[in-house]
Order: sequence, then structure tokens, then C-alpha cells
Amino acid sequence: MEETTDSRPQATYDRIGVGYRAIRRPDPRLHALIGSALQGARSVVNVGAGAGSYEPEGADVIAVDPSQVMLDQHPGRRKVKAGAEQLPFPDGSFDAAMAVLTVHHWPDPERGLAELRRVARRQVVFTWDPAHRPQLWLLEEYLPEIRELEESRFTPLAQVVDALDAHTVLPFPVPHDFTDGYQIAYWRRPEFYLDPVVRRASSTFAQLPAAVVQPAIDRLRADLESGAWHRRHAELLDQERMDYGYRLLIAGEVSSE
Ligand SMILES: C[S@@+](CC[C@H](N)C(=O)[O-])C[C@H]1O[C@@H](n2cnc3c(N)ncnc32)[C@H](O)[C@@H]1O
Repeated sequence: MEETTDSRPQATYDRIGVGYRAIRRPDPRLHALIGSALQGARSVVNVGAGAGSYEPEGADVIAVDPSQVMLDQHPGRRKVKAGAEQLPFPDGSFDAAMAVLTVHHWPDPERGLAELRRVARRQVVFTWDPAHRPQLWLLEEYLPEIRELEESRFTPLAQVVDALDAHTVLPFPVPHDFTDGYQIAYWRRPEFYLDPVVRRASSTFAQLPAAVVQPAIDRLRADLESGAWHRRHAELLDQERMDYGYRLLIAGEVSSE
């Protein structure tokens, strides 16, 4: 089943989402955290579902996304082309609504989060706190333009907590071998950022002009070759996980199981 309720001709991910599944492989540790928050939910709507990462096994899942390119990469049968701000479902249709790394793409996050509360009894949202420090060295030292973009598009965590009336906020320190290749994934593997295929899977890189990104990447390459990066970040190389401000928010009904 695929339904269309969104008439916008181009969603951003129709432009940048090609090849998403190859780089954005769901990480088992994040999957386990999200799975425990969704425990007991039999019907789930995945809003901003993309290619379907982190959906719970054994539940009846409907994927919602405004991007046809992303829906085409989703392996599920039940897909709806729509934005979070206007979910085409009656009130209380689902046990749970999930939204993973997508709220910062929504033109109207308040409205989208209100929609999650309207259509589902529990809400599970994974997002990033733009006020968190430390931030990734890539943003601090090479591409402050990414930091500006990220800080402007991510809703402050407190606002997301309030909009959901979340009862639980769980930190997710990112493992050094995180498999889901979004921007933070390579905090201990800097050479990955040199790969244009890796950069293309991150929406912030994709939104910046090459004239901004390329000189920064050239500088990183030179620092890796000279050993300057390793000297500056020697302490990171011993860390297994780092808290860079990723948070799982849980709201609404608590699991009965
Ligand atoms: C970074 S991807 C995350 C996809 C998936 N949740 C995951 O964890 O891999 C962001 C997704 O949000 C979707 N998106 C963009 N605007 C949206 C909106 N207004 N409502 C719902 N989803 C939206 C994009 O099309 C894209 O698939």
C-alpha cells in the first residue's frame, strides 16, 4: 500500500536521499534503545521513516515520509507520502509514534510533534540537543558553517520535551564504531569524512556549497597526513563512546509489559 497526501513537488530528501541505505546502516545499539522504548506497542507509525531504520520487529508499522526517494528505499509494505505536520490518520490510531533524526527537517516541529501526540498513545523521538557541549571537532575546528546550520535547524531540546510533555530523556553516547553514517558517526574515525560518498549521506554536508566544504576537507586531509589531528585529539582515541548530545525522548503511555 502506498498512499499520497503530500502534493509538494520536491522534498529535500528527493535530492539528497539517493543511496541512503548504503551509508546509513541502522546501529544495533541504537536499535536496542529505541526498541526498549517501543516495547509493547503493536501498532506503530514511523514519521520521517526514511529507509525504515530502527523500526521494531514484530509490530505493525506504517511508514510516513514526504520524500518519494526515501519511501522507495523503505522495504515495508505500508507507506504513506505525507509530512509530520498533517498526518492522515484519526486520533489515537496507534499504540506508538516514532520519529528518528527527522524533527529538525520538519518546517513546523511544534505542529508535527502535536500530530504525534494526536495519532498515538506513546511518542518516541530521537534527536540532538543543539546546546550540548562538547560538539564534534569537525564543527569546532573545520566547519563552523555546519554548526551554524545545525544550531539553526535543530529545535532546542527543552522545547521538544515540552511539546511532547516527555517523561523520560535518555542520553545516547555514540559508540566509536557506530554504523549509521550520519555526521557524528566518525568522531573517532576522521578519515571517513574525506570520502565524498560518506559526506553525501549527511544532509548538512549536502546543503553546504562545495566552495565551503572542500577547503575544510583539504585542511583535514593535511592534518591527518601530518599527524596534527592525532596529536590534538589523542584523548579521543581511547574513548569507547562519547556523549555528543543525542537524546531519546519518551512521552505518553508507559509500556504495560
Ligand atoms: C535523516 S532522515 C532519517 C530517516 C530515518 N528516520 C532514519 O533514522 O534513518 C530524515 C527524514 O525526514 C524526512 N522528512 C523531511 N521533512 C519531513 C516532514 N515535514 N515530515 C516528516 N518527515 C520529514 C526526510 O524525507 C527523511 O527521510
